[in-house]
Amino acid sequence: MRIAVVGTGYVGLVSGTCFAELGHDVVCVDKDRAKIALLAGGDIPIHEPGLRELVARNAEAGRLGFTTDLGAAVERAEAVILAVGTPSLPNGEADLTHLEGAVREIASAMNAYKLIMTKSTVPVGTNARLRALLASLTDRPFDIVSVPEFLREGSAVKDTFHPDRIVVGADREEAGAAAAALHRPLTDRIFVTDVRSAEMIKYASNAFLATKISFINEIANICEKVGADVGQVAAGMGLDNRIGSSFLKAGIGYGGSCFPKDTRALIQIAGNVDYEFKLLKSVVDVNRDQRFSVVRKLRRLYGDLAGRTIAVWGLAFKPNTDDVRESPAVDIVAALLDLGAHVRACDPIALPNFRSCHDHERIAWCGDALEAAQGADAVCLLTEWPEFAAVDLGRLRQAMRQPVLIDGRNQFDAERLEGAGFAYSSIGRPALNREEGEAAEPADAQPNRNNIA
Ligand code: UDX
Repeated sequence: MRIAVVGTGYVGLVSGTCFAELGHDVVCVDKDRAKIALLAGGDIPIHEPGLRELVARNAEAGRLGFTTDLGAAVERAEAVILAVGTPSLPNGEADLTHLEGAVREIASAMNAYKLIMTKSTVPVGTNARLRALLASLTDRPFDIVSVPEFLREGSAVKDTFHPDRIVVGADREEAGAAAAALHRPLTDRIFVTDVRSAEMIKYASNAFLATKISFINEIANICEKVGADVGQVAAGMGLDNRIGSSFLKAGIGYGGSCFPKDTRALIQIAGNVDYEFKLLKSVVDVNRDQRFSVVRKLRRLYGDLAGRTIAVWGLAFKPNTDDVRESPAVDIVAALLDLGAHVRACDPIALPNFRSCHDHERIAWCGDALEAAQGADAVCLLTEWPEFAAVDLGRLRQAMRQPVLIDGRNQFDAERLEGAGFAYSSIGRPALNREEGEAAEPADAQPNRNNIA
């Protein structure tokens, strides 16, 4: 099939490449000339394991091309995938400007029937709106089908080739069958439903996963107070098939380009029909608050943070990505700076992205974990990159002014850290008791270890 993919973000680039790999003839379109030039030159603008090789192989085979000319790409295509961004407006609602703009351009290029599949995350009713808009601009036949995308950053290629399910929302049976057939090589689990339900499935899925995270984070906060271990609690809960073990990792909460945006959008979608989604509002509040638990722990330990040096390990919203959008690190670093601290930050790949938006005279940008820890009063682990957990504790202790580690992602074993002489605190796990005066630091600079949990 000849396919045009509009939008070369995560979703567009990965799904376009995936369909080329399946043998289709794919052209990816973007308005951003620099991005298209980069892609056409064999470079890819995002960090995504396995994607570069896949793009190169399919481009070389002549199955995958890149252009800024939407009209030409749509004219030659039998199917069009809409994968343009739907960022948040200030009120939380999804901004559909790019999507509507793309549909207007498609209208001018309509020379025959097109199967249009929307993979962008869009509020319920959007596909109906787009259908009405396109019908008002062209007499040519078309279908608009909703095929929401569930891929995760960092494992986008794997998720695209091995999805848990494909959801197809169509109002005409033949259109649903055609979209299902296109995706059939990826999985047999294809759920065909109406367009509005498909649109809702995407938001409801992301909102549910976000709810699991905020839920376990609140359980973690209670665990800290009652002396239970949230890791054990989650493991025990996860054995119940009705609950499942995934998305029960306590920490400093979710970030990224999807959960924060989609939860806000669903609250707004509900609000637009006079329904207050109380549960989801709390999920969002809990998530916002959870990231500051790291800062609260530091303040309990040191009181005033002014003049203290804090090492920040990890800036990306999760490992295996250089994406810092809505990363907990953004708020945590800002809070530390507000409180007068000096920050020494590192991340294996996300540092340039973070620095380009959040540079500050009191941030020292460091090449690795040990460099960041140099002279620090505390290390805060914010992203669970494997290299952080593998750090040599002896060298770390030597590098730091105070051996204090606040573990926002529960990556270390408390006993091991305490054994190595660290004051250690994680999220929702009991801190080991230490005798007063056991620490080796000079008394004047000594943190109050009893306050670390
Ligand atoms: C998510 C959805 O998983 C995906 O289906 C959708 O298409 C886009 O949004 P992504 O944003 O790439 O994907 O990341 P994901 O791996 O789901 O993690 C999201 C955030 O939740 C990260 O910040 C992660 O650190 C956090 N998280 C995840 C937890 O804090 N605890 C968990 O147990 C799981």
